[in-house]
Amino acid sequence: MNNSFNHIISVAPMVDKTDRHFRYFARLLTKKTLLYTEMITAHAIIHGDRKRLLDFNPIENPIALQIAGSNPNELYKAVKIVEEWNYDEINLNAGCPSDRVSGNMMGASLMAYPELIAEMISSMKSATKKPVTVKHRIGISSSKVTSSFMPSGYFNDLGHLSNFMSIVNKATPARNIVHARIAILEGLSPKENREVPPLDYDMVYNLKKEFPDSSIEINGGIKTLDDIHEHLRHVDSVMIGREAYSNPAFMARFDSLYDSNPKEQLTRRDVIQGFIPYIQNLESKGENTHLALSHTIGLFQNQPGSSLWKRLISTPSKGNKSTLLIEALASLPKDVLDKEI
Ligand SMILES: Cc1cc2nc3c(=O)[nH]c(=O)nc-3n(C[C@H](O)[C@H](O)[C@H](O)COP(=O)(O)O)c2cc1C
Repeated sequence: MNNSFNHIISVAPMVDKTDRHFRYFARLLTKKTLLYTEMITAHAIIHGDRKRLLDFNPIENPIALQIAGSNPNELYKAVKIVEEWNYDEINLNAGCPSDRVSGNMMGASLMAYPELIAEMISSMKSATKKPVTVKHRIGISSSKVTSSFMPSGYFNDLGHLSNFMSIVNKATPARNIVHARIAILEGLSPKENREVPPLDYDMVYNLKKEFPDSSIEINGGIKTLDDIHEHLRHVDSVMIGREAYSNPAFMARFDSLYDSNPKEQLTRRDVIQGFIPYIQNLESKGENTHLALSHTIGLFQNQPGSSLWKRLISTPSKGNKSTLLIEALASLPKDVLDKEI
C-alpha cells in the first residue's frame, strides 16, 4: 500500500470522541495503530480556526485526517492547507448518515454519486502526495436522494456496490474503508444508523474478492482480537470505533498484530502515569482537563476499581486533577493497576 507505515488496524473517526486528547491517550496504549481524527468539513478548514482544528501532538502519528465535503475545488483547497500539517493520510467521508452532513450532500448521500466521489478523490490527490482514502458504507437507502446511478433511492447488493467501487476506483483511492452496513438516510438517527441496519461482513469480503488489487478495510461491530484475526483472513485491514473508545484497554492488544512477542508489558498504572504529564501540561496552560479525562472513562471497564475511576475523573475538584490522579494510584486496586493489559 502507498503509505510509509505498515497498516493493519485503525481507530475510527468519531465526532466528539477522537479529538487530540483521546488520540494522545490512545497512543499510550498502542504505538502502531492508525488514529483517525474527528470529521472536519472542508469549509471549516478553509474558513475556520485552522490551528484549533488541525494541530496535533507528534506522538499521535500515524494519524489520518478525515474531511467531509462535496465540492472538489473546496476539497482541493482544504487539502492544500492541510499540507502544512504532518498528517499521514487524508480520508474522505462518504459514510456519515447525519442529516446535517448527508442533507448537505456530504457523507453517506454521496454514495448515490460515485462519479462525484471519484472527482473529489482526484482533486484531493492533486493537492497532496499523501495517501487519500475514502470511508463509505455497503449501500444506502433514501426516500429523497436519487440519481442516475441509484434511481430507486436504494442499493444494498454486491452488484451495485461493485459498480460503485469501479467508478470510485477510477480515482484510485489508496484504501476503501467499508462500514459493513447500509446507511438509512431518513428516519434513523446517526446512532441508530450504527445499530439498526444489519452488519453484512460477507458483502465486504466479496467486494475484496472482486477487487483483489484494492486495499479494503472493514469496519463495524468489531470487538475482540479473535474478530480482528478472522476479518484479516478476508480483507487487508480493520477499523475499530466504539469498542476502542468504551474499552480503551482493548487498544493495548493491537500492537500484537504486528509483533506477536511485544517486549513492552503495559499496565493501567503505566497508562495513567503516562497521561499525568499530559494533564499537568494542560493545567499549566490553564486548559480544562475535564474533556481529556472524560476519554479515559472506560479504562477500568469490567474491572474492580471501575466505579472509583469513573467517580475520580468526573467529579469536579477544586485542586489540580493531576494531583488527584497521582493520589488515585494509591487507592485503585493494586492488582488491577499492575496487571498486564
Ligand atoms: C460518537 C460517534 C461519532 C462518529 N463520528 C464519525 C465521523 O466523524 N466520521 C465517520 O466516518 N464515522 C463516524 N462514526 C462512525 C465510526 O467511524 C464507525 O464507522 C462506526 O462507529 C462503526 O464502527 P464500530 O462498530 O467499530 O463503532 C462515528 C461513530 C460514533 C460512535
